[in-house]
Order: sequence, then structure tokens, then C-alpha cells
Amino acid sequence: MIVDRQGRRFRNLRVSLTAACNYACTYCVPDGKRLVAAQDELSADSLARGVAYLIEAAGIERLRITGGEPLVSQRLEGFLAAVARLDLDDISLTTNGQLLARKLPQLQAAGIRRLNISLDTLDPQAFRRIARGGDLASVLAGMEQAGALGMHIKVNMVPMRGQNLDQVLPLLDYCLARGFELRFIELMRMGHLARDHNAFLQQFVGLDQLLTLIAAQHAFVQVDAPPGATALRYQVPGKGHFGVIANESVPFCRSCSRLRLSSTGWLHGCLSSGNRHYIGDLLEKPRHQALPALQRLLVKALADKQELAFSGDVMVMKVIGG
Ligand code: 5AD
Repeated sequence: MIVDRQGRRFRNLRVSLTAACNYACTYCVPDGKRLVAAQDELSADSLARGVAYLIEAAGIERLRITGGEPLVSQRLEGFLAAVARLDLDDISLTTNGQLLARKLPQLQAAGIRRLNISLDTLDPQAFRRIARGGDLASVLAGMEQAGALGMHIKVNMVPMRGQNLDQVLPLLDYCLARGFELRFIELMRMGHLARDHNAFLQQFVGLDQLLTLIAAQHAFVQVDAPPGATALRYQVPGKGHFGVIANESVPFCRSCSRLRLSSTGWLHGCLSSGNRHYIGDLLEKPRHQALPALQRLLVKALADKQELAFSGDVMVMKVIGG
């Protein structure tokens, strides 16, 4: 097992199925241009082999499928079929929800029980302004259908000053009423926000301000989060839970166990590092040749993790999916 000086190791793998996305959210892409798939994206089988090799070489236990937007990818079906055969404790998926209703049968058949749905507002106009695409009603319909099927749903909201702060309480109430866990993600210095300090500072809303906003409406207490969790977790007694991923206010680098694989075959050990390690070629090799080489790259990827706190990188979130 590959472990660093701080006792960290990779347990959670996030695979981006494609860099393409049907949205162009303001915090993700600066120019409003929708992302297209990279020319050199790996096949579903190669990506699934990547997961299999990383289970062995790094001790991966849990898989999250991301993008871009994973539900736009033609590889989804093949990838789901291939990873369902692997020995993983958990497979989950992060989506913007736009195509969710349509894809639910496929997800359910593949054994996916947990979804993270990105949703920054319940206001249709603000939705179009932030996502620059898509349609709120479809997202809500997909999410509610998934809930009715018994899927475990977390909703990701990035609170931003001047954009959706008025939605913190409505979204929280919406989620509490349906048994969804809302998770507020502090805005991260990714992509253009790593370069444009002013744009970042103007919009950033930190943990304290967020909790003050919520306290105006709800009593809540902090509860224990599972080990290695990135979110601080709060209980609203009698109503449910919410979480805050406080990358800036309470950094969690010390216990980070995440490893990311891009759709083009690059390993990323840290969202805050520009370093990446190509494994696309190794995935075409037999296991006995691939594993030792992969282990050498994993040592490097683990060393890319920040010691304490996220410092930001121009790496764009959309490519490796959060
Ligand atoms: N800061 C915080 N969250 C972000 N996301 C994408 N870009 C950023 C950013 N710069 C979120 C998306 C999605 C999750 C995977 O990451 O909203 O919910």
C-alpha cells in the first residue's frame, strides 16, 4: 500500500467519463462556452480497466463517476457494466441532473444507489444565468424520481454572493422536506477563479457567513462526520441534515484520500496541483506489466497532495469533476 508521511493513502477514486458538459456554469467556465469531449478520451473499457488496476495498485475502495457531465457520455453504459463486476464497496455518480430522468433505469440497473446532484438555485431565471444551459424543471423532476426510487441523494450548492445567496434557505427547505442532504460547497479557486482574485473574493461565501444565514431560520447542531469525509455535517433536529464542504475555512487536505482519473487517462493526486501523470498507455498493457509502473506513478501522485490547505490551481474543475 502506498502511504505518505502524513498517513494518507488513496481510497476514493473519481473517474471523469468525459470532459463534455451540457451546462457552462459561471464558476467553471469563464467564457460561457460549453465544453466538448476531448479528442483523445479513453474507451469505456480502458477506463474501467483503469479502475480495476487502481483497486489493486492503490487500494481503491469507492468509486465516483464524474465529468464534465457523465450522463452525456456514450461511454456510460459500457463503463457501468464493466465496473459493476469489480469489487468496490460503493459506486456513486455526480451529475447536474439534466438527463437524470432518462438515465435512471440504466443507473438503477447498474446498482447505483447514491447520487450527488449539482443545483445552485430553485429560481428558473437564476438557474439559466448560472448554468447557462439546461432547464430547472427537468433537474427537479429527475431528482424527485430518483428520490422516489429510494436513491440516496445529496445536492451540491455553491453559494455565491450576488448570484444565489437568497437561495440558501429555500434550497435547504426543499432538501429537508424531501430527505435530500444539501451540501454547501465553498467556492474554490479553480480555473479562471485561481487567476482572477477579485472575481473570487467578490463571490466567495465562507462557512461562518453561511451558518449565520441558516441560523436565522433553523436551529442546528454539528454532528460527527464519517472519517475522511470532506463535509462538516449538521443536524436540524427533527428535520434532517446538511453539510458544508469548507475548503477554505476548514481545509481537509490532511485527511484527503481522493485520486482522480481524467477521461483522457491522466491521474491527478490533488485538485490544487497542476501535476498529473499519464496512465492511458499502461491501461493497454497486461496487469503484470501495468501494476509496477502504475505504483511508481501513484507515489508521485500522492506526493502532489498539499500538506494543509488548498491553494488553488488553474486546472479546470470540469476536466476532473470535483
Ligand atoms: N468551486 C466550488 N465548487 C465547484 N464546482 C465546480 N466548480 C467549482 C468551484 N470553482 C462544483 C460543482 C459540482 C461539484 C462537483 O463541484 O457545482 O457540484
